[in-house]
Amino acid sequence: MILGIETSCDETAAAVVVRDQSGRGTIRSNVVRSQLDEHAAFGGVVPELAARAHVEWLDHIIAQAVDEAGIALADVDAIAATAGPGLIGGVLVGLTTAKALAASLDKTLIAVNHLEGHALTARLTNGVQFPYLMLLVSGGHSQFVLVRGVGHYERWGGTIDDALGEAFDKVAKLLSLGHPGGPAVEQTAKSGDPRRFKFPRPLLREQRLDFSFSGLKTAVRLQAEALAPLTDQDVADIAASFQAAVTEIVATRSRQALARFRAELPDAAPQLVVAGGVAANRAIAEALKAATDEMGATLVVPPIALCTDNGAMVAWAGAERLALGADDRLDVAARPRWPL
Ligand code: KG4
Ligand code: ZN
Repeated sequence: MILGIETSCDETAAAVVVRDQSGRGTIRSNVVRSQLDEHAAFGGVVPELAARAHVEWLDHIIAQAVDEAGIALADVDAIAATAGPGLIGGVLVGLTTAKALAASLDKTLIAVNHLEGHALTARLTNGVQFPYLMLLVSGGHSQFVLVRGVGHYERWGGTIDDALGEAFDKVAKLLSLGHPGGPAVEQTAKSGDPRRFKFPRPLLREQRLDFSFSGLKTAVRLQAEALAPLTDQDVADIAASFQAAVTEIVATRSRQALARFRAELPDAAPQLVVAGGVAANRAIAEALKAATDEMGATLVVPPIALCTDNGAMVAWAGAERLALGADDRLDVAARPRWPL
């Protein structure tokens, strides 16, 4: 039984997860407090405000997670916390709290890489077996990772500039749709014409599995400036055309990545696991379904609440590592950057 703590961005989260002898996981509690309201006025996450809110809320969130699990804190076998990558002030709050709990309760401490948490979640939620390809598309990350086993990750490609969620957020900002932008752009796009503007698909003709979204964002900005003042229909058409561009990019890259999976792991059933908040986007999810069908692969999308940042994914990554003997020292450092 593991307590997991997540504070690397703008969610203060804690969860209790059990991993049984056969390797199956059960979520006993999963408490997430989003800081959206604190940051709304600034159009994005303000690191110092995030860290302060984590300080203010983490103790309560942990107490609630323990309470909802119906246990006492002393019942857990280990305490796992995100140790990076992320906003360092927040990471320090969560990791330091975990260290204090581990020291005072004499429990094992597990310092979790946030990306590993995302990478292993589908095993908790869907019982997915290794190996599989993960597409992580969130506000901070966009990458393909081949997951061969716990601790065995190969990064096959990623963004060379903005993350996909970040691109949604920036486009929403320049269309004055508010923050977070992803859901707003998706909603607005429903009444728009995705063919009105032919936005660029950067890097798409190249074979590498990388993304680039900043040029696309600039093209959207130039189009919006050229049309200003924008009518509601202009805004909807821009949102729809932007979403069509990124959907094509993500689907095409996923087909390429699955082709590589087939070539490099001919004996494995190809599986694509999606993680990150952008997985909530229906247009992208449908395009990924079509892409995996076409490639004879299985698409796995965990429940969206577990695709976005949460404590259960950290607890689960901790549980998987604990089962392999992990036991981090109390002087383990928080890391703002920490590639998988
Ligand atoms: O995983 P997440 O909750 O937080 C981290 O970044 O770690 O992802 C948040 C990102 C934001 O950029 C948000 O705009 C995007 O996911 N997002 C979406 C949608 N819902 C959330 N992007 C596109 N369409 C959506 N429906
Ligand atoms: Zn995340």
